[in-house]
Amino acid sequence: MDQIFSYEVADALTRQNGSEFRSQAEQFRELMMMYSCAIKEVRTKIEVLSEEFQVKSQRNPIGTIKSRIKQPMSIFEKAKRKGYELTFESIKENMNDIAGIRVICPFIEDIYAVAEMLTNQDDIRMIQVKDYIQHPKDNGYRSLHIVVEVPIFLSDRKEYMKVEVQIRTIAMDFWASLEHQIHYKKYTDNEDEAIVKELKECADTIYETDKKMESIRRKLDYVEDINHII
Ligand code: GTP
Ligand code: MG
Repeated sequence: MDQIFSYEVADALTRQNGSEFRSQAEQFRELMMMYSCAIKEVRTKIEVLSEEFQVKSQRNPIGTIKSRIKQPMSIFEKAKRKGYELTFESIKENMNDIAGIRVICPFIEDIYAVAEMLTNQDDIRMIQVKDYIQHPKDNGYRSLHIVVEVPIFLSDRKEYMKVEVQIRTIAMDFWASLEHQIHYKKYTDNEDEAIVKELKECADTIYETDKKMESIRRKLDYVEDINHII
């Protein structure tokens, strides 16, 4: 008799937990869908700007646009690492980079132009700016990171969702991509200081080159302007 009772309890518990699990899985799926829509919204805004430049301007400050959504396991690990409560509200509130867009620009000044054009749009809310170009990380990492909120329109409501936009030059992206492959997120106590120093030197050299290329372009723009006037 006892045996049957405990089977029944076990069964009931499984059913209860099962439905709880299902409802959580559904909520998580909905949250991810909302982030995916937010990426589409911001991506489209940047694509619209790019198309306009293609038609109206000599050159386009927008090069490549990439986007990604953070994997569930990375969301979970980051929440644990940062000590965030594991609720949907807390994840939505605290995590800025579930939806991520990267814009790669030809020149340094393009980065700020793109950031301004995007954040000046009246449905975009600016949440955070981290200027790792003016203030590079110790390892030499450079990029402009902005977190924006963009509204997505669902059947019954409007939700503001956070999107992290990383804007950098081709050269900064080159460094960050290789550094990521070699090193990033694998820092250990016994890391080789010489390698860290070499990577930093590469980042600084690349930045100098970025600035030189920008000044060459400015000179050529100037020559072109003069030619137009003459
Ligand atoms: P995370 O916990 O890594 O998201 O850091 P954070 O929340 O303090 O954000 P931060 O703005 O510092 O950087 C977030 C993202 O920028 C990372 O996920 C990378 O994509 C990129 N990033 C930051 N630092 C580095 C770096 O040193 N090297 C490379 N390759 N990428 C970096
Ligand atoms: Mg991140």
